[in-house]
Amino acid sequence: MTKKRVFSGIQPTGNTHLGNYLGAIRRWAAEQADKTNFFCVVDLHSLTVPQDPAQLRHETRSMAAMLLACGIDPQQSTVFVQSHVTAHAEGCWLLNCITPLGWLQRMTQFKDKSARQESVLTGLLDYPVLMAGDILFYDADEVPVGEDQKQHVELTRDIAQRFNALYDTEFFVIPQPVIAKVAARVMGLDDPTVKMSKSLADKRGHAVRLLDSPDEILYVFKRAVTDSGREIRFADEPEKAGVNNLLSIYQAVTGKEKDAVEADFATARGYGDLKVRVAEVVIEALRPIQARHAELMADTGELDQVLAEGAARAREISQPKVDEMKHIMGLVAASVHPTSESGMPLQDRL
Ligand code: TYM
Repeated sequence: MTKKRVFSGIQPTGNTHLGNYLGAIRRWAAEQADKTNFFCVVDLHSLTVPQDPAQLRHETRSMAAMLLACGIDPQQSTVFVQSHVTAHAEGCWLLNCITPLGWLQRMTQFKDKSARQESVLTGLLDYPVLMAGDILFYDADEVPVGEDQKQHVELTRDIAQRFNALYDTEFFVIPQPVIAKVAARVMGLDDPTVKMSKSLADKRGHAVRLLDSPDEILYVFKRAVTDSGREIRFADEPEKAGVNNLLSIYQAVTGKEKDAVEADFATARGYGDLKVRVAEVVIEALRPIQARHAELMADTGELDQVLAEGAARAREISQPKVDEMKHIMGLVAASVHPTSESGMPLQDRL
């Protein structure tokens, strides 16, 4: 049986937090053995909002190191940096030319992010098309993401179907979003009505960042907003959103069933106890990850090697796909494609 193909990505904007880990990275690592995987540090996506160049360079490496530290194994998964594989930007242009503007203007993330900025960059609007290319140029069947990215994956499906219909082909695989059953949407600890997010993570108390010290993690959990009651149980009621979020984090980290989680807290002495015990499991889960991350960052030789091999493997898949797409769309092939690994005339490869 052929393995399912998986593609997912993460932005190297720093402040990687528990939501990114539980909603995405940890699941990528857990399921990699049964799939063919591509995990991408999407640095081009980060440029859609202003960045400090030196900081972005550092964060890109740090994010790649984080993926490996979280257990992504380069023997089982291709790990690479998006800008190292030119097919992404090249193919994005082609997809732009079949994507109606209205589809992009309707995206919730674009509406939210653009409302918070005085001057909105074109790249921010185009962000989901670049993301669609990431997924489609690898023929991915599955896209494991947190709840907040579901709309972007649905747009990817629409773009793929539109291309296939326009050119009367089955060229693009139609991918499925795969959303976690637990911790698909980790909420802010300072405000359980908003999603934990990188852009708010500089605000003390909002997020647990994966590189935070044990003291800082304990501090943030101790200050977590709950309610005025005492009941420690999973609940949909809006007033119990804080407790529900803490229990969901505990559940995701320990891998226990809901009943078992509630049983663990049956004799807890109030929310103070709950907060400290959730902090403890998170601190222990992050300890080996932080140690491995520090090791990889101290000597980046191993990391650079992994990223170079990853980019080479990613190019082998995505560049021929984009070349073929150009052909389908009526572009004339260069007699020898400058980035072709084989150096074979393109006509012979199509
Ligand atoms: P990014 O970098 O914002 O987030 C990376 C992953 O973390 C998930 N996530 C969360 N999960 C649960 N609770 C939260 N509070 C939370 N916050 C973030 C996100 O859903 C995501 O899975 N557009 C993407 C990056 C991207 C991509 C792709 C993803 C680019 N190309 C192709 C999949 C496939 C993004 O900005 O993720």
